[in-house]
Amino acid sequence: MSLDKRNSINNILEEKRIFHPSKKFAENSNISSQEELLNLKKRASDNPMQFWESFAKSELDWFKPFQTVLDSDNAPFFKWFKEGKLNITYNCLDRHIKRGIGGKTALIWEGEPGDSKKFTYEELLKEVCKAANALKTIGVKRGDLVCIYMPMIPEAMFAMLACARIGAPHSVVFGGFSSEALKDRLIDGNAKVVITADGGFRKDKVIELKRAVDTAIESGADKVVEKVVVVQRTKKNISMINGRDFWWHELLIDQKEECEPEIMNSEDRLFILYTSGSTGKPKGVVHTTGGYNLWSHLTFKWIFDLKDDDIYWCTADVGWITGHSYIVYGPLSNGATTVMFEGVPRPSNLGAFWEIVQKYKVSIFYTAPTAIRAFMKSGREIPDKYNLDSLRLLGTVGEPINPEAWMWYKEVIGNNKCPIVDTWWQTETGGVMISPLPGVVATKPGSATFPLPGIEVEIVDKNGDKVQENEGGYLIIKKPWPGMMRTIHGNSERYLESYWEYISFKGEKNVYFAGDGARIDEDGYIWIMGRVDDVISVSGHRLGTMEIESALVSHKSVAEAAVVGKKDDLKGEVIVAFISLEKDVNSSSELVEELKKHVVIEIGIIAKPEKIIISDALPKTRSGKIMRRILRSLAGGEKISGDISTLEDSSVLEKLKELS
Ligand code: PRX
Repeated sequence: MSLDKRNSINNILEEKRIFHPSKKFAENSNISSQEELLNLKKRASDNPMQFWESFAKSELDWFKPFQTVLDSDNAPFFKWFKEGKLNITYNCLDRHIKRGIGGKTALIWEGEPGDSKKFTYEELLKEVCKAANALKTIGVKRGDLVCIYMPMIPEAMFAMLACARIGAPHSVVFGGFSSEALKDRLIDGNAKVVITADGGFRKDKVIELKRAVDTAIESGADKVVEKVVVVQRTKKNISMINGRDFWWHELLIDQKEECEPEIMNSEDRLFILYTSGSTGKPKGVVHTTGGYNLWSHLTFKWIFDLKDDDIYWCTADVGWITGHSYIVYGPLSNGATTVMFEGVPRPSNLGAFWEIVQKYKVSIFYTAPTAIRAFMKSGREIPDKYNLDSLRLLGTVGEPINPEAWMWYKEVIGNNKCPIVDTWWQTETGGVMISPLPGVVATKPGSATFPLPGIEVEIVDKNGDKVQENEGGYLIIKKPWPGMMRTIHGNSERYLESYWEYISFKGEKNVYFAGDGARIDEDGYIWIMGRVDDVISVSGHRLGTMEIESALVSHKSVAEAAVVGKKDDLKGEVIVAFISLEKDVNSSSELVEELKKHVVIEIGIIAKPEKIIISDALPKTRSGKIMRRILRSLAGGEKISGDISTLEDSSVLEKLKELS
């Protein structure tokens, strides 16, 4: 891993602007004074166990109280709130009905073709219970893994909550992944049931999700998958296999609207979510019930400064952690109204987002820097056509935001009155770790500011020594927190290696290394500099270079492949692949296109290389390691700097320069 890889965000080093929350926002915010925030942080550092205990007790309902806040006996396999028993759906649904807000809108859903629906908390609970009972009738039991491969329709949320209701962990696979990628995840997780749809609408096209499920099952997932449940969304013709496939609406029709929540142990699995690492296949990140419930709940409450009448919208897909924590569990656990949108803005309707903000009077809006940059590119005339006065708070997530995009977001979308929360976190952290609290913390464009109360971070070098002010280093987290991942499904060794053994801080092994580089400025603000491992972020979607390389070499014509990220003004990074071909295969533009398609088939559209460069050989060290540093410079059109004396054959470099 190299620290200098993404140090190119030099412009943020110059960033000196600072913005305080408006007096009006600050006065009305839930945490509104520095004293309050400092007090929270002090409580957390003086007595972390008491701090977490008090929030776990005040914010969540438990069927049986916990005795132990944190069990570190087998660290870093930490256990939180060990003896406690709860069900996250009780906290997300039943308790709100019990306190008399069952008639409040829980979910507002907007479909891609313009259809829409609303569900109150009472209605949502009924839908969830019917789905939970339906899953039971097809044999799903507590502990069985259920895969959810769905478009952004209400049933995706019902399905997740139905699984949680009966104690069946879910594994949501983003609908943009291919059947190959789905197959790998089904087999790795040992998923017994898949919940899908006949298709999904995306950018004027129908994505054939059921067909992808069929292919995944035919090509090997039949070893694990027994049943498939299909939601009717597009009404396109699909094939249904008798005894294996069931229509959602037929299964649900006679189900009871009540289903007692399963009494879960705090450390029982809630879900697995696959994410890319720098090596090997995607890893199944495991989250458990109690700690995740608390962290998604508390972070949502703190960061989004929730009020009873807020209409909150996160534009992510439920297939990613942002959708899990901040469309489903965080908002619902807090009794908020959460908006879900099936589509994405497309060239024919670039105003789609702003139309929804206007239509539903959205007050809190949370999106990704890539989306903001795309809106910026198409000009302020589009958002200016809509009434965005309802907005009071804006958020961003998933990748570093450049100061220009941050300023545009603030001025054009927020009309200079909305604070911006730039939230840094990961699939593994379960919820946000670094973010301003909007009523208190003054923000700088491009900085995620400070860790949340209870979170302790440091920026260190490879030896674990703290780096100087404004010097880049590895971002580490020094203490466990409730929402942390518990392990990698089926691979606890990889959990240790990937996160806990890379850096030893002051001789202490149990520090979490997140994979990101960062620096802290003279005022203590944290600036995330991007991944320092071989993970590429394309439009905020995380992809391992190795995954894409494996996809490329699985093609019969490819002998070797090396994939790097190239900086892109819109998407953050794009994928550039350098490959060499098998003997007797000739390079051609048709082959390049075929290889791009092949990657889409193997992984999904998000992994499609922007550019494939075919060369006779790749630059390697004498010991045979591909020198990616050189390829990154070539892809970015930069001068090759640093030591190249270890290069086995320097003529390769000259040839590659011509081709890049
Ligand atoms: O590199 C960081 C980047 O996204 C990575 C985590 O990706 P994923 O697990 O897919 O989760 C994305 C949504 C939480 C991080 O390691 N990242 C996330 N948020 C930010 C960010 N980079 C800079 N600024 C952020 N606010």
